Amino acid sequence: MWHLGFLSLLFVGIYVLQAPLLAASMRAVTWNLRFDSQPNNIPVSQSLASLGDPLQQPAFLNGSNERPWSTRRLRVAEHLLSEGIVLAGFQEALVRQVNDLAELFGSEWSWIGVGRDDGVQAGEFSPIFYKRSAITLLSNDSFWTSNTPFEPSRFPGAGSFRICTVAHFTLAREDGPRNFTFLNTHMDDQSDAQRRLAASLLLTRARFEAVTTGGPVLISGDFNSPSTGVDSGAYSIITGAALPVAINATFAQRFSVPDDQLPDFKMIDLRGQAPRRAVSTNFATFTGFTAPNDASHWSRIDFIFGGSNLEWTVDAYKVDSVLADDGALASDHRPVFADINI
Ligand SMILES: *[C@@H]1O[C@H](CO)[C@@H](O)[C@H](O)[C@H]1NC(C)=O
Ligand SMILES: *[C@@H]1O[C@H](CO)[C@@H](O)[C@H](O)[C@H]1NC(C)=O
Ligand SMILES: *[C@@H]1O[C@H](CO)[C@@H](O)[C@H](O)[C@H]1NC(C)=O
Ligand SMILES: *[C@@H]1O[C@H](CO)[C@@H](O)[C@H](O)[C@H]1NC(C)=O
Repeated sequence: MWHLGFLSLLFVGIYVLQAPLLAASMRAVTWNLRFDSQPNNIPVSQSLASLGDPLQQPAFLNGSNERPWSTRRLRVAEHLLSEGIVLAGFQEALVRQVNDLAELFGSEWSWIGVGRDDGVQAGEFSPIFYKRSAITLLSNDSFWTSNTPFEPSRFPGAGSFRICTVAHFTLAREDGPRNFTFLNTHMDDQSDAQRRLAASLLLTRARFEAVTTGGPVLISGDFNSPSTGVDSGAYSIITGAALPVAINATFAQRFSVPDDQLPDFKMIDLRGQAPRRAVSTNFATFTGFTAPNDASHWSRIDFIFGGSNLEWTVDAYKVDSVLADDGALASDHRPVFADINI
């Protein structure tokens, strides 16, 4: 009896020690950073040097207007690092913003992505940052959400070139490594047809990844359109509530899978999958640079999805305010966090 009791105590001990490790989730974020619309030549080191005394209350700046990136970037990095993220999909980041965040995040981090205007460094990136102690890059590529996805291009009627960056990653876990696929994108602000095409291309690619890797597929992005109402076509398509539109035949061929493989594949909105008590009251992800006295016109247009082949669960989902005590906003969008188990 004593031996049995001792043994079960031992097992309980092992279980208690191991359970939190086995349940460890990765914290991912998607955040539209707002492009560097007021560029200056202030280096990161100078912004850091000009921060005030941390023991003094900061002066009130009245942030109902936009601040330069050189001011906003310190808030972005401090906020994200304090959240313990290991994976980030950003939108609207110009190359300066990518380089600044790489500098602020430090040498434990790497990033991938290309400028959407030339496939190198021009224009906004949809970059993916990852912390190398947790996540290893296997491969990556980018495609344009247009009629010619394999070359820098703009969908007719769209305001800009639009891109999706894709990565195959391995997540280190106590109980062994897990592979997963992550896609990060920013859809057009002017063309609903572009957004529906982008959703159709992403869904085709995501199903291909789910079938060929057998592992989890995650999508993050600014859809520039909400989940309901007249502009919700992209959301409806990606979540399987509406049929995809016709896509480029070369793309469809390259990422085709047999008809009987995950035929009803779709993406699931992670906000609806976390335990209800672990979902933030904050709902809107786009607020503009406006004072927070009326949220009625704010909108939820930034999302994180998981593929319907599952292989994932969500522990928590949060939209954070980025209004600081000094009255300034870090971006016109808010970061969207998810704690994901794969
Ligand atoms: C902040 O800016 C808004 C808009 O410009 C203005 O209406 C308000 O009076 C300002 N508040 C302060 C405290 O300066
Ligand atoms: C990621 O993509 C970039 C740009 O295409 C490429 O130069 C790099 O070799 C890729 N890295 C991996 C590990 O696939
Ligand atoms: C599909 O995309 C490829 C590569 O971007 C392009 O060469 C081809 O012309 C496109 N097909 C059509 C029908 O537009
Ligand atoms: C992850 O993918 C790589 C490359 O395809 C493969 O070599 C490796 O075995 C995979 N690892 C796991 C844990 O599935």
